[in-house]
Parts: sequence; structure tokens; C-alpha cells
Amino acid sequence: MNRKEFITNVAMAGTAAMMISSLAKAYSFAFGPDAKIKIGIIGCGSVSGVYLPHLMNSSFVEVVSVCDIKPERAKARAEQFNIPNQYPHIDQMMAGADFNLMVNLTDMQEHGRLNKIAIINGKNIWSEKPLANTYKEGLDLLQSAKQHGLKIWGAPAVVNSPQFAFMARQINEGKLGKVAAAHAHYGHLGPHWSAFFYEELGGSLPDLGVYNLTTLTGLLGPVRSVVAMTNILTPERTVEDKGTIKVEAEDNASVLMEHYSGAISHVMCGFNYFDPYGHQGTGQDKPTVSLVGTKGAMHLIGYDWMPFAVEMATTDHEEPQRFSTDPGSYVWQQGASVISESLAEGFEPLINVEHSLHILEIIEAARESQKNGKRIPLESKFPYPVVK
Ligand SMILES: NC(=O)c1ccc[n+]([C@@H]2O[C@H](COP(=O)([O-])OP(=O)(O)OC[C@H]3O[C@@H](n4cnc5c(N)ncnc54)[C@H](O)[C@@H]3O)[C@@H](O)[C@H]2O)c1
Repeated sequence: MNRKEFITNVAMAGTAAMMISSLAKAYSFAFGPDAKIKIGIIGCGSVSGVYLPHLMNSSFVEVVSVCDIKPERAKARAEQFNIPNQYPHIDQMMAGADFNLMVNLTDMQEHGRLNKIAIINGKNIWSEKPLANTYKEGLDLLQSAKQHGLKIWGAPAVVNSPQFAFMARQINEGKLGKVAAAHAHYGHLGPHWSAFFYEELGGSLPDLGVYNLTTLTGLLGPVRSVVAMTNILTPERTVEDKGTIKVEAEDNASVLMEHYSGAISHVMCGFNYFDPYGHQGTGQDKPTVSLVGTKGAMHLIGYDWMPFAVEMATTDHEEPQRFSTDPGSYVWQQGASVISESLAEGFEPLINVEHSLHILEIIEAARESQKNGKRIPLESKFPYPVVK
């Protein structure tokens, strides 16, 4: 589909949506040739400071508004990045300056609720992870988005890295033979600024494990069943916004997954990991994702959200070699910019909402497995392979 056809299709879907939505007057796509995707950002905390410079550099984007329930934060970002509109509440943002894509950078627990409001108001969505609090809530969001002729995507963007693409191609080409097992890990000592990371429905699985879960399922395909152990290792934390709090969500997790391919993979994540690399991951040059098959083994060097090489040894070349050492234009904070480009240009990005929903189901299954000590079957799947 070329850009013109895409825009026409989107416009037709938009017209249908206008007829079925009571708030349809708010729905207005305006993607003409060379038009920019108008963005409204909700949540002006820590991560917005990394997103905004990337968005401001995109030729496909115009950031029209920012919103935060702490209005001083919206004001600060508006001034810092010269954004014309700022709001203290989502309802005011929806009633204010028109835009096409809401970028949701709020507390994890708020994502599902705010994304729903945005869909009802005719906005496409890029959401930080998780895009909803439960798999069911995520499915409902997707259905509602489809009914309104809208699109929704969720972080992370790890499938966009050249290293992910390289690994996927080696697997597709059979370089590792039959892949039997994989392991991935990511952790640090936990965020110190906001309590939501430790409150009910926060936790290290949706905040950190989500990266490795996306990488391993992206490489090995959908998961049939999950067994997991999770717990709380540090029951009390001191954070900047609420002082000393009780930790309610898992800060320590180990998840075993059986893929339909037959591979068994393992992800460990947590907020109690010795972390010599800091929150930016500076200097992390060790493997964090490893796969082994009947003909070879492969390691991703660096974190999967900031990788810089792949090490591989195979029956054809038993001495490990380094490949894919160029990060290209990939950075972890590119998700909303790439999605804007895909909306403007009318192509399907690698990031896929059904993949995000599958990860949500895995996270819920892991928690369920911890609760009842059982292996949990999954129902969702996603288009695979991610990289052909
Ligand atoms: N901080 C990072 O480095 C980082 C990196 C990758 C992903 N993330 C993800 O980004 C999201 C935000 O994390 P953060 O670290 O920026 O948190 P944060 O606490 O620094 O910022 C969240 C902001 O959202 C605002 N907010 C909460 N509820 C709101 C609502 N209903 N309406 C409007 N504003 C609301 C808060 O007032 C706050 O300013 C989380 O999902 C997190 O997992 C963060």
C-alpha cells in the first residue's frame, strides 16, 4: 500500500469510527502528503526527558501538547522543548489542541485507563510498557482501537536493533541448528524516584523483564506455557515522591517459558541486582542474552535495549566471532518516533501490538504460577518471525 492509499484507508476507517463513536467529533486524521504526526505526550517525568529530544529530531513529528497531573512538570517540559500547549489533566488535553498520537509516559498502573480514554477520543497510541495492567484489559484496548479505526503499540523497541535482526536471521537460516535453550537477564537496584515501580501492578517484570521477554519471544516465537517464581526481597524502600513505602509488587523474578518451537527459555529480572553500570547501562559489555542449539551458540553483547554486538560460534566456525557491531540509528527511546514514521509513511513497524499482549499474558502467567505453584498455559500468539 502506498502512502496515498494508506491515508485514504485510514480516512475511511476514521469516517466509520465517527459514525459509531459518541465522541467522534474529536476524531480527526490530518495526514496529508508530508504532514507530520501531531503528538500529545502524557506523563512528563523521568523518561519524557529522554523521549522528547528524540521526538523533536524526527521529521515526521510535531509535538503539540504535554500533560501531567503535576502541572509544574508539564510546564517545565513545554518551556524546555518549546511545546505550545500544556494541560494538568487528560480530559483537558483531549478537549484541547488536536493531535493524532498520544504518547503515554505515565505510571505503569495508569497506562490502561488513560489509553482507553485516548482511544475513545480518536487517538492512536504509543504506550510505555505495559500498555495495560492485564492481558484482558490489553485485548479490550486493541478491540476498541480496531473499532475506532485506530492503532495502538507498546514499548519496548528492542526488536528494532540491528543486533536483534542479526540474531533472528541466524536462527531463521538454521545457523544454530535446532535451538534448545536460551537465557536472558536484566536488573539493577531499582528506581529511586517514584513509588509506582513498587506498588501493586508495578514490579520488575513489567518494568525490566519485559525487555528480555520481548527479545526471547521475538527470537524463538510464541510461548505455550510458563512456570515462574517471584518474590519480594526488599520489603521496604525509600523513594523521592512518597518517602518510605511498603513494596507490594515482585522485585525478584525468574520465569521459565516453553516455546511452541520446543525451545525452553529463562528470564531473570529484579530490583536487587548489583549494578556496576548505573541506570544508563554505561560500560555494560557482557552477554545478557544467550541461545544454544544443536549446531551453534550465540550471545547478545550489552543489554538488549542497548546492544552493540553479537558473538557466535557454530559447527562451521567453532572459535567465537563478533558480528553486528554497528548500532546504526537504533536507540531504545525511538519507539514513538518510529511509530510516527510508520503512521506518516503507511508501513507496518516491527513492533507489534499482539506481541506486546503476549508479553502481558506471560507476565500475568508468571505471577499466577508463583501464586499457585502450577504451570500456566497461554492462549495468545503473535505474528512470527518478527524479522524475516
Ligand atoms: N525512567 C526511565 O528511564 C524509563 C525508561 C524506559 C521506560 N520507562 C517507563 O516510562 C514510564 C514512566 O516512567 P518514569 O520513570 O518517567 O516515571 P516518573 O514517575 O518519572 O514519571 C511519570 C509521570 O507521569 C505522571 N502521571 C501519572 N499519572 C498521570 C495521569 N493520570 N495523568 C497525567 N500524568 C500522570 C506523573 O505525575 C509523573 O510526572 C513507566 O512505564 C516506565 O516503566 C522509564
